[in-house]
Amino acid sequence: MKLWVTAASIVLTGAVRAEVLLSEDEIQKTLSFGPWPPIVQSDPSNRVSRDSRAITLGAALFNDPVLSVDGAFSCASCHDPEQAFATSEAQALGRVLLDRNTPSLRNLAGLRWYGWGGKSDNLWAASLHPIIEEQELAHSKESLKTAISESSYVSDYETIFGSIQVQEPELVLVNTAKTISAYLETLGTERTQFDDFRDALERRDLAAAANYPAAAQRGLQLFLGRGNCVLCHNGPRFSNNEFHDAGVPYFLNETEVDEGRFGGLNFLLSSAYTLDGDWSDDPDKKGAWAVRSVRRSHSDFGTFRTPSLRGVAETAPYMHDGSLIDLDAVIRHYSKIDAERLHADGEAILSALNLSEREIADLVAFLATLSKVP
Ligand code: HEC
Ligand code: HEC
Repeated sequence: MKLWVTAASIVLTGAVRAEVLLSEDEIQKTLSFGPWPPIVQSDPSNRVSRDSRAITLGAALFNDPVLSVDGAFSCASCHDPEQAFATSEAQALGRVLLDRNTPSLRNLAGLRWYGWGGKSDNLWAASLHPIIEEQELAHSKESLKTAISESSYVSDYETIFGSIQVQEPELVLVNTAKTISAYLETLGTERTQFDDFRDALERRDLAAAANYPAAAQRGLQLFLGRGNCVLCHNGPRFSNNEFHDAGVPYFLNETEVDEGRFGGLNFLLSSAYTLDGDWSDDPDKKGAWAVRSVRRSHSDFGTFRTPSLRGVAETAPYMHDGSLIDLDAVIRHYSKIDAERLHADGEAILSALNLSEREIADLVAFLATLSKVP
């Protein structure tokens, strides 16, 4: 059944009659992508979550090269606040060229897994690893403590956490990461044209909903229907936050592969910084069941975390290796995907969609409405 808008439509678009193309069933599914923004709870594993002093300190540290051992890079070198907290390079470039694309850091509060391979189960651990990773900021615990102690941030640090001198270097590292995490929790994407459409549908205000472009509506219908995108890209963030093989080659060169989730799990299961570990501030260890119950399996090889599609138009290039230059290329990838090459066991969701040129343009138009108009 189609719901037609008559009275308001002629006024809205002049010659072409604007209408809501979605069926009742499609409208119901569309409501599941909101409301936006979501209500974010404070992080019980981080005692400075929501603390305004920690947020301010975390923001300053994020942008300061004091967090790198040689003073040459900051988090913002790769996660540029001017570029939606990513950069336009295919693969992150810091001390060395990394294998993966830099993800944007918005809408990260409250996820179950972080990183392309899910090597962290909480946001402060995902903020901690880059400080000490050899290929990223390359501090040791000791050199970080010295750097913070000798920096202008020491008094702000001590206001929140007490005397730094008496603290073990590992505690300084965790505290530092928790301030950055408190800051990252505050980063979110704004409401978009899509959210206005979705909320109008919820209010049953079809005249307002009809403002949403017809091409984007057709793209949304494909997203929900024949494209099957919603199987993985679902909920208000357009991500199930789980791991899949979306058909992007995972060979790094002739002999090496990006292990994806398999490597992420190896890392996670030997990490001291999980929700089940001693550094979590949550006495109830909420959420720790996930890390306790995950098991490695061969099918995790070469799978990657489903990215959120909120703000996606602002963060080209795409995929874990940055190999697809724009949204058009991503849709063409799904259109021609070679199902034979999907290696993960049991991943029978994706198959070549063989989209027409108009369908490709419609899906791109839909994805564009998930970002704020510049
Ligand atoms: C050299 C570039 C580079 C630097 C410097 C860097 N990052 Fe990243 N960041 C990346 C890349 C690449 C990934 C994806 C890594 C992966 O999943 O394997 C990432 C992932 C993340 C994630 C997980 C995002 C998600 O969607 O799950 C967080 C959080 C993060 N970085 C925070 C930081 C913080 C905080 C700093 C500074 C302490 C920092 N990064 C420094 C490149 C960088
Ligand atoms: C089987 C689950 C699954 C389905 C179905 C799926 N995706 Fe994805 N999507 C993913 C995963 C996983 C990635 C990341 C893959 C990688 O980096 O190797 C991804 C990446 C993307 C990206 C790039 C985002 C970024 O920030 O790099 C876009 C855009 C996208 N998908 C859109 C779609 C559309 C449109 C459809 C339907 C035609 C679709 N996806 C179907 C799981 C899925």
